[in-house]
Amino acid sequence: MNILVTGGAGYIGSHTCVALLEAGHTVIVADNLCNSRVEVVDKIKQLTKKEVIFYQIDVTDIAAVSTIFSNHSIDGVIHFAGLKAVGESVEKPLAYYYNNLVSTMILAEACQNYGVRRFVLSSSATVYGDNTVPFVETMNLLPTTNPYGETKAMSERILNDIAKANPAFSVSLLRYFNPVGAHESGLIGEVPNGIPNNLMPYVTQVAKRKLEKLRIFGNEYPTVDGTGVRDYIHVMDLAEGHVAALDNLTEGVHIYNLGSGNGTSVIELVKAFEEANGIEIPYEIVERRPGDIASCYADASKADRELGWSAKRDVISMCRDSWRFENNKE
Ligand code: NAD
Ligand code: WQD
Repeated sequence: MNILVTGGAGYIGSHTCVALLEAGHTVIVADNLCNSRVEVVDKIKQLTKKEVIFYQIDVTDIAAVSTIFSNHSIDGVIHFAGLKAVGESVEKPLAYYYNNLVSTMILAEACQNYGVRRFVLSSSATVYGDNTVPFVETMNLLPTTNPYGETKAMSERILNDIAKANPAFSVSLLRYFNPVGAHESGLIGEVPNGIPNNLMPYVTQVAKRKLEKLRIFGNEYPTVDGTGVRDYIHVMDLAEGHVAALDNLTEGVHIYNLGSGNGTSVIELVKAFEEANGIEIPYEIVERRPGDIASCYADASKADRELGWSAKRDVISMCRDSWRFENNKE
């Protein structure tokens, strides 16, 4: 199939392009490079030895998006493009609502105009809010604590309503848990802007001695050791989950958790990193981070049942591959 991958130069998008190309699909990337570099597209080509069609456009630009749909016979869209920094979304809510919602609407409209029936959205486990773990797709969603999370819940609702009015539209809403790791080659991975907010990129920079020590946000949560528990998923498993979602997409709206189904605490992750890479990670316990919840992990059985997909790579591989990329990146 010819797949339009918005945000395909970004972290999850680039790994998914590799998985799509390896599965025999043709990939057309649309990215404005606001949080990525064009060199990533070359790395995808280098890894797969396949062509990638690249458009440097903003997917909130309806004319630019229409040009892509008229130049190519698109079979499906995977919509990764979006702003994703939770803290920044509190400071710049309008930028987040505009970018993340207008892009979804423009792409959905282009799909309608050009008869494209397959749409896959990057959603997030954040839409569950502080529900009881494990999170199951059938749960009622709870309010999130930030505009970023709201853009994901709203994008899901918009696509639900469009699909209700257009029964031939096939939508997959993929709720990612905590993506970490990098392609096993070390050629592509996550490149955070400035000081990382997320745990794994922070840990790799402490390991690299770019940052002095990890600050663990709270150790009195009701969890195994008091630190926050999350469901870390290797980005290549996540990428393969997209291929499975696309290959199995049928009419209507389908929601899938893409997680490993396992909870790992902050301290467990630090220990796994130390074990995997033989490097000590100094840390201190500090105040809880506002908006954090104690535990977040998936019931990942629906994707296994319906898509035949489950996460294969363990936390040790995630730590090893994150570290390899940290050492390789320019
Ligand atoms: P990323 O920032 O690495 O990738 C997003 C890409 O989209 C970037 O290359 C950026 O340049 C591009 N982009 C942003 N706005 C655009 C626009 N208007 N037009 C064109 N390109 C645009 O982020 P990521 O981690 O790869 O996340 C991909 C998607 O998955 C996002 O929608 C994000 O919200 C969602 N998600 C990410 C996580 C995570 O922890 N990384 C978790 C759950 C969901
Ligand atoms: C993981 C754990 C922290 C950094 C975020 C978004 C979510 C999704 C994924 C997009 C928590 C602790 C972290 C640090 C720490 N993104 N931590 N010290 O918050 O689960 O999820 O990214 O959709 O929407 O909210 O991920 O990696 O920031 O935190 O102790 O320096 O590590 O408290 O328990 P989070 P994270």
